[in-house]
Amino acid sequence: SLAAVFARASARLSAASASPAPLARALANVRYTPAAGTSFLGGTRAFSSICSGYDSQVLTVLGGQWGDEGKGKLVDILALKYDMIARFNGGANAGHTLVVDGKKFAFHLLPCGMLYQDKTNIIGNGVVVHIPTLLKELQSLDDADVDYDGRLKISDRAHLVLDAHQVVDGMRETALGSGAIGTTKKGIGPTYASKCNRNGLRVGDLFEDGFEQKYNALVDNLQSMYDFEYDRKEELERLYAYKEKIDDMVIDTVHYVNSSIRSGKTVLAEGANAALLDIDFGTYPYVTSSPTTAGGVSTGLGIAPTKIDASIGVVKAYTTRVGAGPFPTELEDDVGQEMRDVGHEYGTTTGRPRRCGWLDIPVVQYGHMVNNYQSMNITKLDVLSGLDEIKIGKEYKIDGEVLPYGMMPSTLDGLAKVEVEYESMEGWKCDISKCTKFEDLPHAAQAYIKRIEELVGVEVSWVGTGPGRLEMATQGFEAVY
Ligand code: GTP
Ligand code: IMP
Ligand code: MG
Repeated sequence: SLAAVFARASARLSAASASPAPLARALANVRYTPAAGTSFLGGTRAFSSICSGYDSQVLTVLGGQWGDEGKGKLVDILALKYDMIARFNGGANAGHTLVVDGKKFAFHLLPCGMLYQDKTNIIGNGVVVHIPTLLKELQSLDDADVDYDGRLKISDRAHLVLDAHQVVDGMRETALGSGAIGTTKKGIGPTYASKCNRNGLRVGDLFEDGFEQKYNALVDNLQSMYDFEYDRKEELERLYAYKEKIDDMVIDTVHYVNSSIRSGKTVLAEGANAALLDIDFGTYPYVTSSPTTAGGVSTGLGIAPTKIDASIGVVKAYTTRVGAGPFPTELEDDVGQEMRDVGHEYGTTTGRPRRCGWLDIPVVQYGHMVNNYQSMNITKLDVLSGLDEIKIGKEYKIDGEVLPYGMMPSTLDGLAKVEVEYESMEGWKCDISKCTKFEDLPHAAQAYIKRIEELVGVEVSWVGTGPGRLEMATQGFEAVY
């Protein structure tokens, strides 16, 4: 009964306030109970509060730092248990690298579930779609004999990225000179700008009379703001040719996803980019142009916040950033270079070397505050194997004052004033790639994970121990492959 639910919740809350464990941990104990008629995915954990990701009807996997945390691998593993895999934000700026059966796939726009024959994949209304890129990725599936007939649904409300948006992206970056954002030049920012200007083109417009007129109005507008030559005829012809190819895939995904949820289907919403690149919460202006955090799942798919059961935060065991902008724990020394070399830290989308540094706890705490992770996946722990000493950026100080949990300066000046307080932990010197349980990890590695849990106040469910799908250690439950 409702009274019993309240009694249990208040007992948990008073237990939380009586113990030093953070409230977040107590809240993580509130488990999803499926309504009658919905499918319940069984993980094997019984009493642990750890969220494996297997037992939600609607789950989101979100990047907790500046991107490239390795979300693709967790989504790929969890996708096995879900009916639908959905993208809700960003565009071809993201880059998920999946290694399946020794074969490498780099997806920029396609959801990770495309590789499974029985999964439906959604490109939600919050995504911006460059159709040539989409078709190129579909071609890579054709080349690998992956059948995707009927398995990809593209929102008719998603905005189209024109080549013109990509030209403008490049021009804006050039004009910024040394102050450039370091965008992926995929036209992401200019497309979201058109969306907000209300003269953008949506995928559904392609199928309506008057498309050409809207197209011309948009290109006129872009050319009036940015002086560039453009072959409209060629692009229009291409767009009409693409239209035939994607005709069957374009639907009202908002209605489709919601009616699927109503009928008991499960949805895995995969985040692109990451918390500190969020247009509102990130290190503005060095951010991407879409919401990358929990709220974006609702606006980018049309799933109400109260229907989202859990979020898993994906956090790399150290920190990387590609592109310009603040990075308080950055290492510009041999250790940073070692992380780059061992972790292959070069952008999937642009090939640029990623900036590397120690794990930044205030960043992870801030991401948790905004996203409310039920658990975390710490990825690429293996990259730190072999270091004598591992540092954790534990807190930020400004003018000698420690910033409270979850506080992140909102301005570049504020971020520049941050001094990071570090603590040092012992490294480990063995191969961890065969560890499939948390308990198998060397003691020093366990201690590192436990310290992260303590500082963030969220339990770690998955630990990445290598690039392969099976190279994951779990805590408190068994993985299902
Ligand atoms: P974005 O959407 O761009 O943030 O993508 P992402 O978070 O999916 O990360 P991306 O695929 O760009 O980078 C992750 C890379 O790390 C891939 O090449 C993965 O194969 C690899 N990787 C993932 N997990 C691990 C791990 O635990 N250890 C090691 N060594 N590599 C990993
Ligand atoms: P844009 O998204 O191309 O406009 O780029 C804006 C900033 O976000 C740049 O610093 C990019 O490097 C960064 N960025 C965008 N998407 C990703 C991603 O998926 N991983 C890492 N960095 C990203
Ligand atoms: Mg990436």
